[in-house]
Amino acid sequence: MAVSKEQVLAALAKVPSPEGAPLPAARVLSDIVVSDGKVFFSLTVDSAAVKSWESVRKAAEEAVRAIPGVQSALVALTAERAAGAAARGPQPAHVATQPRAAGAPAAHAHPADKVQPGIPGVDAIIAVASGKGGVGKSTTAVNLALGLRDLGMKVGVLDADIYGPSLPKLLAIKEKPQTIGGTRLKPIERYGLTVMSIGFLIDEETPMIWRGPMVMSAITQMLREVEWGKLDIMVVDMPPGTGDAQLTMAQQVPLKGAVIVSTPQDLALIDARRGVAMFNRVNVPVLGVVENMSYFLCPSCGTRSDIFSHGGARKEAERLGVPFLGEVPLHMTIREKSDAGLPVVATEPDGPHAKIYREIAARVRDQIKGATRTAPKIVIEA
Ligand SMILES: Nc1ncnc2c1ncn2[C@@H]1O[C@H](COP(=O)(O)OP(=O)(O)OP(=O)(O)O)[C@@H](O)[C@H]1O
Ligand SMILES: [Mg+2]
Repeated sequence: MAVSKEQVLAALAKVPSPEGAPLPAARVLSDIVVSDGKVFFSLTVDSAAVKSWESVRKAAEEAVRAIPGVQSALVALTAERAAGAAARGPQPAHVATQPRAAGAPAAHAHPADKVQPGIPGVDAIIAVASGKGGVGKSTTAVNLALGLRDLGMKVGVLDADIYGPSLPKLLAIKEKPQTIGGTRLKPIERYGLTVMSIGFLIDEETPMIWRGPMVMSAITQMLREVEWGKLDIMVVDMPPGTGDAQLTMAQQVPLKGAVIVSTPQDLALIDARRGVAMFNRVNVPVLGVVENMSYFLCPSCGTRSDIFSHGGARKEAERLGVPFLGEVPLHMTIREKSDAGLPVVATEPDGPHAKIYREIAARVRDQIKGATRTAPKIVIEA
């Protein structure tokens, strides 16, 4: 028989909070996701009280696992961000992807009127996204992260593309992350970046058939159960599209903003517009648009050709009222370096491409400084 949310809540009622209140009454529970016998939810607690909640988290997991029919339970402990994220708007996406079962107690289902929990120690989280695949998000994410590093920031990169993780290849990482204390994962350090990807944990050959809730829990685990340490900024390489993973990111963490990558063709721009619309819908400011493969630079003669009618993304950014962050040429060196795990900003720091990425990074940094949740909302058709 299928496990219901009510059964989960009933089991949690026997688990006391550190103050002794039954868990469902402690106003810390997120929505509860139950799928094929797998149960997932999080406890959002005050960052000062995290230690005293760890045993409660474990007890909650055990209580849920003991329910007949439950195959696995994942309870994530998330710390409430003390300040800074307070201007976060409402959370429409929450309702969109996790419909609350009829009769479930809305009052304690999620502290929706509270601020979005951050990742302790991580000052800002930005997403690099696009509506369309293959436009160079991952290449941009890695080189942007390195550009931010060059500006003196401590930078993390999270590969949220759990369908097709790219960071193991782009950063030539073969080692597996170590665990700390049996439960938390230590991210990999490369080129001064702190990096985590689901690709470090699974074999390339493993077929990745992820379903909605699994996408969510995989991303949540990579956000919450990894020792990110102290970071000025975390750059998240998003999968293409506007699906579960994107919404999850927007729900699970207070994204400071999103960088949209597009190629200059009309079709890619339509998808970029969808990307902008999606982030608007979940109240995440769009920090700007990067035009990738903007123009072709001939590697032998240096001649420039605008093979894709260059400049489309700049115009589109203007039309949407979002900043234009820069143009990256289509260049063999970028592709070769990227695909060999030697990102151009790290390995050719004095070259022209690194300079372009650093300029984009500086604009992104400036946009983040100015980004607030109360930025005027741009209404556009998707
Ligand atoms: N400016 C560029 N010049 C030349 N090649 C590029 C450039 N940007 C990206 N590429 C190449 O294009 C291919 C796709 O890039 P990338 O993997 O970064 O795209 P993506 O948008 O992340 O793709 P996906 O949607 O599959 O995640 C890669 O082979 C990459 O090396
Ligand atoms: Mg990618």
